[in-house]
Amino acid sequence: MPEAMPTTLPRDSRLARRTLLKATFGALAAGIAVEAFGLEPRRLSFQTLDIPIRGLPDAFDGYRIALLSDFHFPVWSSAETVHKAVAMANAFHPDLMALPGDFTDKRVKSVPDFSGLFDAARAKDGVVGTLGNHDHLAGEAAVRRGIADKTPIRLIDNKSFLVERGGQALAIAGVDDLWEGAIMPDRAMAKIAPEVPRILLSHNPDLAEEMTVKVRVDLQLSGHTHGGSVCLPNGYALIVPSLYGQKFRSGLVQGRSHRVYVTRGVCSILHNRLFCPPEVTGITLRKQK
Ligand SMILES: [Fe+2]
Repeated sequence: MPEAMPTTLPRDSRLARRTLLKATFGALAAGIAVEAFGLEPRRLSFQTLDIPIRGLPDAFDGYRIALLSDFHFPVWSSAETVHKAVAMANAFHPDLMALPGDFTDKRVKSVPDFSGLFDAARAKDGVVGTLGNHDHLAGEAAVRRGIADKTPIRLIDNKSFLVERGGQALAIAGVDDLWEGAIMPDRAMAKIAPEVPRILLSHNPDLAEEMTVKVRVDLQLSGHTHGGSVCLPNGYALIVPSLYGQKFRSGLVQGRSHRVYVTRGVCSILHNRLFCPPEVTGITLRKQK
C-alpha cells in the first residue's frame, strides 16, 4: 500500500509561505509608494502630437503650441519645476505658449509672488493664459494682478486675438473657469469671421461637453484633471474631477461640442501620481486633408 499524501502542508511550510507572501506584498506596496510619491512626480514628460484642423490655412500648417497647465505653485510645484517646464516648452520653439490655469492653489494663505517664474517663456505670438478654479479660490483679483505685474503671460479669458501670416488668420481665444468664473465664448469670439479656425483655452475640459452657445471651436486646450493623478497601469484613474467620468481624463478627446486636448499638468511635488507623470505638451497644428 503506498503511503497517503498529506492533505495539508506541515506547519513550518505554511509559516514560510505566509512569510514569503507578506514579504512579496510588502515589497510591492513599497515599490508603488516610491513610484507614487517619489519617482513619478519628478518625471516631467514632454508629449508631442500633431492635430489636424479643418480649414487650417496653409500658412498655419505646422503651427506650434506649447501647452503647460496646473502649476499649483508653490503647493504642488516648486519654482524649479516651473522653470523646468518652461525650458521644455521653449525647446519646442513654439509659436504660441498656452497656460490654461491653476497657476496657484486654493490652499495658499496669500497669493504667491510669481516674479521670475515665467520670465524665460518665449513664443513668437505670445504667452497667453486663462484662470483655473484654484486661481479663483486663492483670490481672483490678486492672481490677475500678480500675473499681469510679474509675468509675461497675457490673460485672455473671454477675449480673443488673431494671429496673421501672409494674409491668413488663426484665432486664439480663452474663457474663464467653468466652475468658478464666467464662460462667454460667444463674446470672446464675436468679431472673428466664421471661416477662421479657432483655438480656445479653457481650464476645465468639461466645457467641450457643456458649451451651449453655437460657436465654432476647432480645438480646446485644457488641464484641470491632472490626468486623474493616481491611475492603474491601463490608465484608468480612481478619481477624475469631471462630470463625465474618465472621458476627459487626458489626451485628445472629442466632446459633444468640439475636440479638446487635456494635458496631465505640471504639478508634481507632494502630489501623488501613479502611472500618470506630469506633462508639458508640444502640439503641432496640421491642415486636415
Ligand atoms: Fe489643477
